[in-house]
Amino acid sequence: MCGIIGYIGKKNASPILLEGLRRLEYRGYDSAGVAIADNGELVLRKKLGKIDEGIAHLLKEQPVAGTYGIGHTRWATHGVPADKNSHPHLDETGRIAVVHNGVIENYDAIKQKLLRAGYTFKSDTDTEVLAQLIGDYFKKQAGKNGHTLTDAVRAALGDVIGTYGIAVISADQPGIMVGARRGSPLIIGIGEAENFLTSDANAIVAHTRQVVYLNDYDVATITQDGFDVENLGTETASVQISKLEFDAEDAQRGVHAHFMLKEIHEQPQTVLNALRGRLDFEAATAKFGGLNMTAAELRGVDRIVIAASGTSWHAALVGEYLIEEFAQIPVEVEYAHEFCYRNCPLEKNTILLVLSQSGETADTLAAIREAKRRGHRALAIVNVVGSTIAREVDGGIYMHAGPEIGVASTKAFVSTLTVLTLLAVHLGRMRMLSAKRALEVLHALAALPKQLEIVLQQTGPLKELAAKYASAKDFFFLGRGYTFPIALEGALKLKEISYIHAEGYSAAEMKHGPIALIDKDTPTVFLVPQDAMYEKTLANLAMIRARKGPVIALATEGDEGIRRVADDVIYMPKTLEALYPILATVPLQLFAYYIALARGCDVDKPRNLAKSVTVE
Ligand code: AGP
Repeated sequence: MCGIIGYIGKKNASPILLEGLRRLEYRGYDSAGVAIADNGELVLRKKLGKIDEGIAHLLKEQPVAGTYGIGHTRWATHGVPADKNSHPHLDETGRIAVVHNGVIENYDAIKQKLLRAGYTFKSDTDTEVLAQLIGDYFKKQAGKNGHTLTDAVRAALGDVIGTYGIAVISADQPGIMVGARRGSPLIIGIGEAENFLTSDANAIVAHTRQVVYLNDYDVATITQDGFDVENLGTETASVQISKLEFDAEDAQRGVHAHFMLKEIHEQPQTVLNALRGRLDFEAATAKFGGLNMTAAELRGVDRIVIAASGTSWHAALVGEYLIEEFAQIPVEVEYAHEFCYRNCPLEKNTILLVLSQSGETADTLAAIREAKRRGHRALAIVNVVGSTIAREVDGGIYMHAGPEIGVASTKAFVSTLTVLTLLAVHLGRMRMLSAKRALEVLHALAALPKQLEIVLQQTGPLKELAAKYASAKDFFFLGRGYTFPIALEGALKLKEISYIHAEGYSAAEMKHGPIALIDKDTPTVFLVPQDAMYEKTLANLAMIRARKGPVIALATEGDEGIRRVADDVIYMPKTLEALYPILATVPLQLFAYYIALARGCDVDKPRNLAKSVTVE
């Protein structure tokens, strides 16, 4: 959830850390801070609030010199958002500073032990406990030959239960930065006579694209000229230098007012990226490079459990429809956090498929580990190359959507749907799916980028629609069949960036109770493409209208009759029933975006949220 940045080199650390924090802010923005080593002392600056109102202002007023330091932008887990709970946290000497991403589950037991040893605490956080613990070990080792900060960090982590990605510096060990991870991402950035440590490559891509993705239990000792990595679990760490797939420009907002708007408008290109090299018209199938399963193994799969969270879970629901329709393989969709703990029955040839934009969602990572513990193969569809999930699964497919900075996931969701459709065709063509039917799907997929461009030209009408409904207190989003999951997604988009209460439902389900909530002040967004369910969906729509509920219909272009039964209509191009989820999502993304804008909400950094949920 939080963002971590560390720098060690010859340049002034302060502007580098601040710029890194700005690029990390989407990961959490309750507060931010830095600790910089300056002339034998550690100088601490930290402040509640977003970066430009808080820490940036503070550093301008009270600049800090020094050529190495650490920074942190926080999404609160233990301790309310407050100056005192902001990171970095210091040990009692004030000469060791720690920033941390994750949750230390046994922090209270450690805190009680330190309190009994006479330590005092300034904050309510688990991170300060870790800082004091490291300081305690560092003090106990003082005087022993060659004792180092890394030794103290290693010893302290031996007492810790929970997850962490940390960066640590000490005024008593100049020129050294220590990093360690278990369950939270941490990356070394390799520069020229300078090195970086971060929880997210976006923070350092402007400085270097050479990185090392640390693994769980790795402890790294970093200087400006190099680094050493050890693994607390296996003794020998596996260090692999990778090249970031994107550049600094990709992670910039460009001409758009918000990252979310930029990412919505990138979708014709990102769908093209997801399709590139994977449409095999000759064999009438889709092809992938990284599933790491033979055709015989894939043919033998007789059940798929798809686990994910949030928006990715909505994509999983579409994946269920796609794979069952085209490959006739039974699919079960699970919330990742439920799958881990409910002992879900798995047959011999069941595989787990996880969906994740960030590749760092703790719930989803736990699902992978649970499936593998039980001896089942785990595959992933992921966006972030080199992410923890991408490295822990047995095989997978990258969606190539590029950095997604807006907290509300947009392009990654549509790219996930695109890849799921390709996967369904791939699996289907190993079973009963005919070449003819498969080619229909492949051609419809190939037409999507242009059709998405058409949908994106409706920005004007969607902006007007948003202005008309921005003051509503409650919304329903309804769909059936393939567009039922998109109704859920549309509701989530609206609530997470505009804070309006919105519920997604199967249109047919309304008459079993929720319709009691319909009145003239409760608008309903109705997904009613001309698909197999069209007549039935129209009947459900009529039930809403009969109770004076305003209806915004998302319909297939050319459907003029819908204008007689809806208050407002947004059109999307005609496509296969299985591809309406992709075309229907984009108007809902824009609708939510413009309503949030009309309500003055912070679209890219909505309250209480963070981009990647790396705690369970
Ligand atoms: C989506 O708009 C949300 N930000 C959130 O639900 C997100 O989809 C969820 O946390 C899963 O994230 P992941 O895809 O990175 O695993």
